Amino acid sequence: MAEQYQNALLAWEFDQIYPEPAPGEFDWYFRYARKAVGPILEYCCGSGRLLVPLAADLPGVQFDGVDSSLAMLNRLEVKAQYALGPGWNKQVKLHHNTIEDFIPSRRYGMAFLGLNSVHYLQTKSCVQGFFCMVHDAVLRPGGVFLIAVKEVPEPPFVGVELVSTLKDPVVHPITGTSVGRRLVAVEGKAGEYAIVKRTFEITRRDGSLRTLRFSTIFPIINKSEYFEMLDVAGFDTEMSLGYGLGHSDMMCFAATKAG
Ligand SMILES: C[S@@+](CC[C@H](N)C(=O)[O-])C[C@H]1O[C@@H](n2cnc3c(N)ncnc32)[C@H](O)[C@@H]1O
Repeated sequence: MAEQYQNALLAWEFDQIYPEPAPGEFDWYFRYARKAVGPILEYCCGSGRLLVPLAADLPGVQFDGVDSSLAMLNRLEVKAQYALGPGWNKQVKLHHNTIEDFIPSRRYGMAFLGLNSVHYLQTKSCVQGFFCMVHDAVLRPGGVFLIAVKEVPEPPFVGVELVSTLKDPVVHPITGTSVGRRLVAVEGKAGEYAIVKRTFEITRRDGSLRTLRFSTIFPIINKSEYFEMLDVAGFDTEMSLGYGLGHSDMMCFAATKAG
C-alpha cells in the first residue's frame, strides 16, 4: 500500500503532478471500455483521473473503483459529482479497500490497473497471484484486463539518488500551505526489487517545517516476465508502448480472457 496517498495534502499534490491523462492514455482505455460487455473495475482508481472521464463518456456503463486511500477517494467523489451530476453514485461505486483484499460481488467486462500501480503488489508472486485472481474470479468470459507500467530500468539500482524539487512556492488552494521540497531516493537489488524512499518537506503557514517520509518496495518485472505471468494466469496478451503511440517506455498490456 502506498502510505503517502493517505495524506490529504499529498493526494492533492498527485492531482497537481497529473492534472490530466498523458497523450493517448485516455483513448487507449476508452477503446477497450466502449467495447466491454459488462461493468468496469478500476484497481487503484485514486482521485479518478481516468475513471471519472471514462464514466462521463460512457453514461450507460457501471463503474467500480477500489483504492486504499480515503483522501484520494474523497477527491474522486468531488470530481464525479461535478462531471456526472448528483446521481453519480448510481453509476460509480467506490470501495475503500486494498486491491488484494477486495472481493467483487459481480463480474466485469473490463478491469484495469493503470499508471504503475501494479508495483504496489510488492513481489513477483503477489503479482502472479493477482493476475490469476483477476482471470478466474473477476472478469467475465471475453473480458479484458489492462495494465500500464513503465519499463523499469535494469541495474544497478544501488544507492541511486534522484532529487526532484517542486516549484516553489506551490500554495495549497484551501490551507494556504506551501508544499516544499520532495526528495526521492531509489535503492534495491538488481533484477529483483527497488525501494523508493520519498521525503516530503512541507512548510506550514507559520513557517515551521513538517517532514513526511514514505518508502515503497516494488518488484522489478520486465516485459517478457509480464507476458509469461499473464500467460500462466490464462490470458491472451498484446502489448503496445506509450498507449499505442509508441512515444514512451510505458508498457501497455491488454490481456483478454477467453470468451
Ligand atoms: C499513483 S496513484 C494512481 C491513481 C490512478 N490509477 C491514476 O492513474 O490516476 C496510486 C493509487 O494507488 C493506491 N494504492 C496503492 N496501493 C494500493 C493497494 N494495495 N490497494 C488499493 N489501492 C492502493 C493509492 O492510494 C493511490 O491512490
